[in-house]
Amino acid sequence: MARTPTTWSFDPASMFNLAGQTAVVTGAASGLGRAIAHGFAVRNATVVCADINIEDATTVAENIGNNATAVKVDVTDTDSLQALRDGVIEEFGGYDILCNIPGINTRQSVLELSEARWRQILEVNLTGVFLAAKVLGEPLVNQQSGSVINMASIRGLDGGPNQSAYSASKGGVVQLTKGLAAEWAPGVRVNALAPGYMKTPLVREAMDDKEWQKKMREGHMLERFGEPEEVVGAAIYLAAEASSFVTGTILSVDGGWTAQ
Ligand SMILES: NC(=O)c1ccc[n+]([C@@H]2O[C@H](COP(=O)([O-])OP(=O)(O)OC[C@H]3O[C@@H](n4cnc5c(N)ncnc54)[C@H](O)[C@@H]3O)[C@@H](O)[C@H]2O)c1
Repeated sequence: MARTPTTWSFDPASMFNLAGQTAVVTGAASGLGRAIAHGFAVRNATVVCADINIEDATTVAENIGNNATAVKVDVTDTDSLQALRDGVIEEFGGYDILCNIPGINTRQSVLELSEARWRQILEVNLTGVFLAAKVLGEPLVNQQSGSVINMASIRGLDGGPNQSAYSASKGGVVQLTKGLAAEWAPGVRVNALAPGYMKTPLVREAMDDKEWQKKMREGHMLERFGEPEEVVGAAIYLAAEASSFVTGTILSVDGGWTAQ
């Protein structure tokens, strides 16, 4: 059996293990957040499944088992985020991993999109991450340890028609991630995931448009959409000791979308 060099600070055999860690995952009731919550639990973390949809979040927590709990939160509401933070600290004594996942979208051109919907998309996708950073990030900064994972998108890196609000919000998440990484180093690491198109309820409606679906599928070098579970490995990596020298990074999980 191969031996770990005695000078290494950690054992590669356990560098993806999250045992002893508590993870707060917002947006855990559906899609990518649900997959990530499951993945963290399988890697032995205690997971708090937070979502505005408490019914589905409760089902996810029940399916996970392993001490997972569900909490209602609206990431656009500071009081709601404070209640989540205080509740988790009371129940688990603190947390180590913060995953900011919620996102919404509307496929409309700028000329069609209402100002109200623009504000709503920016509010959930970008301001929600800012507020979560302020409220849920503070204990991590105080304890000078932890890993924050924000949810960006390929659309925060490139663009494309009929989703300017979404692209603008995700571009904001990319830059906010880098800003937080700089402000919270060296104690707390902050990174973001940038997935390609993944089969979740967020894109279900657009899937009915067969022409769009074909075009988007072909935009990925791997010529398909991703499954929600295909983002889990990257999330575990960013949460775990395996990425101990990684901060301020935007990790693409996009079937080659941004490379072509
Ligand atoms: N599916 C994709 O193709 C794709 C690609 C790149 C990035 N993303 C991003 O991944 C994240 C998750 O998307 P998904 O595809 O899993 O979508 P989804 O619709 O399946 O899940 C989104 C979750 O966020 C929750 N949510 C919405 N508003 C909230 C709020 N104000 N407070 C708390 N929770 C709220 C919803 O209840 C839902 O459970 C989003 O940020 C999305 O932009 C998705």
